[in-house]
Amino acid sequence: MKKLIIAIDGPAGAGKSTVARLVAERLGYTYIDTGAMYRAVTWDTMRRGIPAENAEKVAAVARAINLHLATVAGKTLVKVDDTDITDAIRTPEVSRQVAEISKNGGVREAMVHLQRQMAGLGGVVMDGRDIGTHVLPGADIKIFLTASIAERALRRWRELTDKGLAVDLAELRAEIACRDKADCEREIAPLVQAADAALVDTTDLTIPQAVEKILELCEARTSVL
Ligand code: DC
Repeated sequence: MKKLIIAIDGPAGAGKSTVARLVAERLGYTYIDTGAMYRAVTWDTMRRGIPAENAEKVAAVARAINLHLATVAGKTLVKVDDTDITDAIRTPEVSRQVAEISKNGGVREAMVHLQRQMAGLGGVVMDGRDIGTHVLPGADIKIFLTASIAERALRRWRELTDKGLAVDLAELRAEIACRDKADCEREIAPLVQAADAALVDTTDLTIPQAVEKILELCEARTSVL
């Protein structure tokens, strides 16, 4: 059977990475978390003390980065050279800085180049913001996965409080709204639903329900390929 290229885009907190990883697992495909790639570049610029405004130096970091992604036991492991940065790229400091770094044209060019190489001949689920519109416009399946801001903030609040962190729901909501705005309004490859993408709203869906919905779309698509 043809190995598909599946693109899943959407805003922060819609459940993209969990859903995309599970879809990949069910199909025996490779999962590629492109947000983790932009986070890794952000982390690398921060450890080198390069400010986001220094566009040329930031882009040079992205071009030179030796990045490895792997899915192990249901988690995306991220390494730069031999350093495991899986947790380091999820800190609030990196989360605050990443939208600024991912605006950089040189960074995007370097990441898109890597992402197209990774997609290869198919059998991949790639999630991000611009996969269906820009990175892989010829993808076999395009999904735009979203949920209301209130629901996305609540999910994030539960995730962080489960980890024992004290967080304010209203603050999270404001942070998500701010990130949405930055992602949607940036000049290069903004977050927008591709004309040929299927909209999957997860506000009232559980994760398994969202996964099933996408698998049904894949099945319908493979039957016509
Ligand atoms: O999915 P995430 O929250 O880990 O993504 C982190 C940031 O990276 C997010 O603010 C937008 C950016 N990003 C992007 O610009 N393009 C992508 N394909 C994926 C993520």
